[in-house]
Amino acid sequence: MDMDSRGIELNYTNLVSPQTRIIADPEQMKRVINNIVGNSVKYMDKEKGRIDIRILDEQDSVRIEVEDNGKGIAARDLPNIFDRFYRTDSSRNSAQGGSGIGLSIVRKIIEDHGGYIWATSREGEGTCMHMVIRKYLEQEDDMVDPMIDPMDDEMI
Ligand SMILES: Nc1ncnc2c1ncn2[C@@H]1O[C@H](COP(=O)(O)OP(=O)(O)OP(=O)(O)O)[C@@H](O)[C@H]1O
Ligand SMILES: [Mg+2]
Repeated sequence: MDMDSRGIELNYTNLVSPQTRIIADPEQMKRVINNIVGNSVKYMDKEKGRIDIRILDEQDSVRIEVEDNGKGIAARDLPNIFDRFYRTDSSRNSAQGGSGIGLSIVRKIIEDHGGYIWATSREGEGTCMHMVIRKYLEQEDDMVDPMIDPMDDEMI
């Protein structure tokens, strides 16, 4: 994504234990990350660009954060950026092309996975995308109601 030539530093931290699982379509998740990181690169306006990807453990969920120190998004635009065809004024007036569908696809994919996505940002300072997806808990499948003896139809 031109990160090297544009002098953008990419950092990755994964604080989730290796046994942790989520149920997800890897191709779709790749699309999510590509879109979000693609935006971070496209809307980078700093000499020393920086993108941090963090995978965090949150009890029953895995939290994915992609933070950049790019141009940021004005508070009035923030609620709309996941809408289809929405582009901020500053993006429409800039040289960077785009149709404003990237984040609407991202939100659809995350919600299809039962997850949530939102953004926080400070204009001029940077943007952070936050995603939460529930962990796959094996016990949920194997769990047997303790009141019912699986070898017997009758209640204990
Ligand atoms: N990391 C970011 N930094 C600054 N602005 C952003 C960032 N990500 C998204 N935006 C703003 O949100 C708008 C919507 O993003 P989205 O990815 O949906 O569309 P796009 O990048 O303009 O076009 P497309 O993704 O379809 O090529 C962008 O036009 C831009 O104004
Ligand atoms: Mg985009």
